[in-house]
Amino acid sequence: MAFTSEQISIMDSIIARYPRKRSAIMPLLHYVQSIDGYVTNEGIELIGQKLDLATAEVTAVSTFYTQYKSKPVGEYHVGICTNTLCAVMGGDLIFDAVKEHLAIENDGVTSDGKVSVEHIECNAACDYAPVVMVNWEFYDNQTVQSVKDLVDGARAGNPPAPTRGPKTLRSWKQNSAVLAGISDGLANEGLQAGEPTLLGLKKAKGGA
Ligand code: FES
Repeated sequence: MAFTSEQISIMDSIIARYPRKRSAIMPLLHYVQSIDGYVTNEGIELIGQKLDLATAEVTAVSTFYTQYKSKPVGEYHVGICTNTLCAVMGGDLIFDAVKEHLAIENDGVTSDGKVSVEHIECNAACDYAPVVMVNWEFYDNQTVQSVKDLVDGARAGNPPAPTRGPKTLRSWKQNSAVLAGISDGLANEGLQAGEPTLLGLKKAKGGA
């Protein structure tokens, strides 16, 4: 799709944050993803033109990081951690149960376009295993039932609040804009670091 003059102006403002414009490649990929829901070929070409990079260079970055999608995902993209600790704490069970519940495979999208599922690697939240992320927001200490409830709520347009961060779960496109550096001001409204994360700090400071 063609980009509007307003969208191109936003891209220019993102590029202007950096002393070397090629440094804007990752936020620009998130921004393109916030428009169409995934990184389109048109987006890759435009980023290349803007940053004086070859299309192949932009594609190389886009395909290296799993946060960038080359095809549409759901309005609520559910990442289930199946790395070692989460897996043994129930992540593998959750992953299998949710795929069966939604009748989709890994990287699949429900027929209504609302929910997609993928297994993800460690998200550095092992103290809350098993961890599920939706549009990169944390859902800690999950169970098979809680994630079934989560995806059912998302399909009904009423997902539960993330455990930490924003108090309302925003859509995949909306959170892609946040990752591009376009703040919605919500990141700090809910709980930040949880009790298990702060325990080591307390001990280091001589507390309980
Ligand atoms: S193993 Fe799942 S968050 Fe670290």
